[in-house]
Amino acid sequence: MGGEPAVKSEMATPLRVLIVEDSENDAILMIRELHRGGYEPRALRVETAEAMQEALAAGEWDIIISDYVLPRFSGLAALHILKQSGRDLPFIVISGNIGEDIAVGAMKAGAHDYILKGNLTRLVPAVDRELREAVVRRERRQAQEALQRSYGELEQRVRERTEELRASKRELERLVGELERSNQELEQFAYVASHDLQEPLRVVSSFMDLLERRFQHQLDDKARLYIQYAQAGSERMSQLISDLLKFSRVRRGSWEPEPVDLHELFRQIVADCRTVIQETGAVITCEPLPVVQGEPAQLCQLLQNLLLNAVKFRRPDVIPEVHISASRQDRHWLLAVRDNGIGIAPEQHQRIFVIFQRLHSREKYDGTGIGLAICQRVVDFHGGRIWVESEPGRGSTFLFNLPA
Ligand SMILES: Nc1ncnc2c1ncn2[C@@H]1O[C@H](COP(=O)(O)OP(=O)(O)O)[C@@H](O)[C@H]1O
Ligand SMILES: [Mg+2]
Repeated sequence: MGGEPAVKSEMATPLRVLIVEDSENDAILMIRELHRGGYEPRALRVETAEAMQEALAAGEWDIIISDYVLPRFSGLAALHILKQSGRDLPFIVISGNIGEDIAVGAMKAGAHDYILKGNLTRLVPAVDRELREAVVRRERRQAQEALQRSYGELEQRVRERTEELRASKRELERLVGELERSNQELEQFAYVASHDLQEPLRVVSSFMDLLERRFQHQLDDKARLYIQYAQAGSERMSQLISDLLKFSRVRRGSWEPEPVDLHELFRQIVADCRTVIQETGAVITCEPLPVVQGEPAQLCQLLQNLLLNAVKFRRPDVIPEVHISASRQDRHWLLAVRDNGIGIAPEQHQRIFVIFQRLHSREKYDGTGIGLAICQRVVDFHGGRIWVESEPGRGSTFLFNLPA
């Protein structure tokens, strides 16, 4: 509905018009003019503030046409009432004689147009235009309100999401705390258990010794063999417990990182392991190793376990060769322990780091299956990762990173 005055059809446009006017005759003239212009006015004339307020409260209006000077009211007061009602209606001032200053005052106060009573032909074009503008204003207002609403909804949703996030953060912190506590308890338990288990084991093995020595002549070969089995068993148990103790001693958080010279540390480890190195004829080579941040005892276990594994899991009739190297990777060092041993099938690459997991019988390669679990824990506590690259028969390379 364009509402262009020129194309207004025979169908008159209904117009709810509130006329603020003391003169009945003038009101009739206006209504007649509107008729002529193609409107079908449904008009109400008021001449006091109360009557106007009542009319505004009682119904919907399309436009207000107001006289400027009334005996008990005025155009400016009418404008004020309209503003206070909170409605946005076109407001046209009409006056018998209107000076320029009055016109300016009316427009400043918020009137949309002013018309001289002697020039009523301007009324219809003014009404046409103001109705169109009112539509535009209304649409803009609605769009703005919709925007504000969706903005409010968005804010509400952000508030809700933020609260949800806070709640799940609290829950996460609680769980982390719980996990830390139960980890500590577990470590404590492993420590105490391995400690306390050694004691009765020592009793068993001492009495086996005694039995063997004191009753030497009363025992036949079978009895001696059984005692040997029992002692081998208790020795193995003792080894397991002592490895478990080592495992449970690798703790988190109870130490402050300090500079550790890996080269010096490794030299010391090689010296400590010289017996097994000499026995096997192993050739150990080492590139310059860096100083890292960590805990010396833990790093010692890490390197020692890897070195001993590299020598232990050698191929029969092949002299073991072990090579250690290091390369800088922004904030970390990547270390590699490479051997020419039996290698490891890809499907076992993860499993070997799990405690007690071994790939061979004890008859073939002795061990408790705790060494790599310790390595994993040490690297973990130093904020790094450990993994293996290997193929059966082609040697293995254990890689891990440590903070520089
Ligand atoms: N350098 C290596 N070459 C081949 N296999 C290895 C090597 N290091 C570890 N493994 C495999 O991983 C298993 C777990 O190692 P580890 O935890 O040190 O236990 P253990 O040395 O007591 O057997 C070993 O039993 C072995 O099967
Ligand atoms: Mg080992």
